[in-house]
Amino acid sequence: MGLCVPGSFHLWLRAAGGPDSRAVTQQTAFPGDRTVSLGDKTVRRIGFGAMQLAGPGVFGPPKDPDTARTVLRRAVELGVNHIDTAQVYGPDVVNELIAEVLHPYPEDLFIATKVGGTRDETGAWVRASRPEQLRVTLEQDLRTLQLERIDLVYMRLGVGGGGPDPVPLAEQLGTLTELRDQGKVGLIGLSAASVDDLTTALQITPIAAVQNPYGVGNRADEPVLDLCREHGIAYVPYYPLGSAFTGGPRALAQEPVIASVAAKHDASASQIALAWLLAHYDRMLLIPGTSSVAHLEENVAAGQIALDDDDLAALEKVRPPGAPPF
Ligand SMILES: NC(=O)c1ccc[n+]([C@@H]2O[C@H](COP(=O)([O-])OP(=O)(O)OC[C@H]3O[C@@H](n4cnc5c(N)ncnc54)[C@H](OP(=O)(O)O)[C@@H]3O)[C@@H](O)[C@H]2O)c1
Repeated sequence: MGLCVPGSFHLWLRAAGGPDSRAVTQQTAFPGDRTVSLGDKTVRRIGFGAMQLAGPGVFGPPKDPDTARTVLRRAVELGVNHIDTAQVYGPDVVNELIAEVLHPYPEDLFIATKVGGTRDETGAWVRASRPEQLRVTLEQDLRTLQLERIDLVYMRLGVGGGGPDPVPLAEQLGTLTELRDQGKVGLIGLSAASVDDLTTALQITPIAAVQNPYGVGNRADEPVLDLCREHGIAYVPYYPLGSAFTGGPRALAQEPVIASVAAKHDASASQIALAWLLAHYDRMLLIPGTSSVAHLEENVAAGQIALDDDDLAALEKVRPPGAPPF
């Protein structure tokens, strides 16, 4: 794997809008060694997305429950302290696994969940964004995760598709602010949010994080990312490896520019995709999803790759903003 190249780190800070003084003091750190403050916790930049620990179609128990447990245990051993989960994963299955393996939780562990959706008996994703539904989902998260407060709860917009939500965003966020006032929610985030959604939300309550689809092969969300940069909001890309649903990691490996940067750093294409994300914003937090211990280890190690200026310039052209995703 490539060593840190100070010049590239300067570029990374420039891309993140960081002041020059920080570039001087932080030249020697790898992108993955840095942390981000969220509420009263300090989060490492490479976390873990737990969705892949449910059964096929994110429904029911995992095919290999022992490996799922090992993945969770190993994530914490490797220093991961940000786990992204949701009541809809399973449903309940993933939250219960997390509690079974990791509770009582390490003091620094930061757990994020999402409300706004549910599953029907066939496993279909169904919208559940009315105030009473948000409260029920949150209570279920608290119970299954064995927590009194969830560090970060995203309002997941548009679950199941089907046109505009009949429940206004202000009402959804009103419910979440009530739950925050009751001490059941630490921070509020938005997921699958547009620039308009985020702009509206910021007039109602502070938004700590946005979780939207984004990656080296899918740059459609750059306007939202820019707005997050402007407000110092953490940005948590989902599908950072292009998603299991669409064979993302395979497509990354077949992309010639990514493959050549990967060969240069003696790294995998997935690692380069993660390193590219780290280089784009200093409050970008990664939650790659995996059901494999080997992939988990590989993903955490991606934090030790420092892409140089040539790498970043080449990767920039893989899918310019506006190009269709792969
Ligand atoms: N807010 C939302 O609506 C939303 C939607 C989707 C996801 N999410 C969150 O975002 C997280 C990440 O998204 P995701 O899991 O859907 O997609 P992803 O991280 O882009 O990709 C996951 C896929 O990549 C594979 N993979 C992981 N590491 C790999 C590696 N090093 N080499 C090769 N393949 C690798 C996984 O397979 P293996 O299991 O075989 O490793 C899985 O098929 C989820 O876990 C979830 O927490 C949120």
